[in-house]
Amino acid sequence: MRIATIGAGAMAEALGAGWAEAGHEVLVTARSPQRAAALAARLGGRAAAASLRDAAAFGEVILLAVPGEAATDALTAAGAADGAFDHRLLIDCTNAFAAEAFTAAPNSFTLAIDTVAARVAKVAVGARVVKAFSMLAAEIWRGGERSYDARPLTVPLCGDDPDALATVATLVRDLGGHPVDAGGLDRAQYVEAMTAFVMGLWFAGHDARATLPPLESAFAHPD
Ligand SMILES: NC(=O)c1ccc[n+]([C@@H]2O[C@H](COP(=O)([O-])OP(=O)(O)OC[C@H]3O[C@@H](n4cnc5c(N)ncnc54)[C@H](OP(=O)(O)O)[C@@H]3O)[C@@H](O)[C@H]2O)c1
Repeated sequence: MRIATIGAGAMAEALGAGWAEAGHEVLVTARSPQRAAALAARLGGRAAAASLRDAAAFGEVILLAVPGEAATDALTAAGAADGAFDHRLLIDCTNAFAAEAFTAAPNSFTLAIDTVAARVAKVAVGARVVKAFSMLAAEIWRGGERSYDARPLTVPLCGDDPDALATVATLVRDLGGHPVDAGGLDRAQYVEAMTAFVMGLWFAGHDARATLPPLESAFAHPD
């Protein structure tokens, strides 16, 4: 598959490396040609670099990997206003909080007023947007562990287009992850809120995972 990244930072590198290794063709696009070229060189193989404007034309799948507050600018620079994303599969892995905001307190992270996913879908007119990968640190994909306590590393997917969801599910499996259909794109706001909440706990040194019992002990059935 042809996959373009918008952004050449930690997430573009972590996911791009996994997809390149799985045999996909990766085009790194970024506002800095030097950074795009440097990442493409690190990804090796068939990876190449180009300008933001080239992402939508190249990518059967496009990964948006910029800070949440930069999503509109980056998509606009990539031609969103000219319809570049019409019918394109756009993975939104952004978060709605700024990691720099951490103050050692669990409530350091607050959400942007609107969800990034809603903004992405509005700006990238016609795109088939799937929210995915936003909850897991880039380091996880760079590392080799794909299960914890015999539980598979699970990636919730939120989107409205069944074909787009199926494609992203394949890309999750290509990285060794376990995709889960988590509802429509309107559910992305809960992913973004949960991520801000959980990251606040993790950054403050609390084991957020321990707040969730395993499924068999979760009493997850309607009473
Ligand atoms: N890192 C993680 O562990 C992780 C995990 C899950 C989700 N996320 C989310 O994924 C997104 C990317 O994170 P990251 O860690 O990859 O960030 P990063 O390493 O800081 O890279 C961000 C990329 O976005 C580019 N960028 C910033 N502002 C831009 C703008 N206005 N227009 C175009 N490009 C712009 C940067 O370009 P320059 O180099 O020119 O500044 C850089 O290529 C964020 O929304 C983050 O919350 C991150």
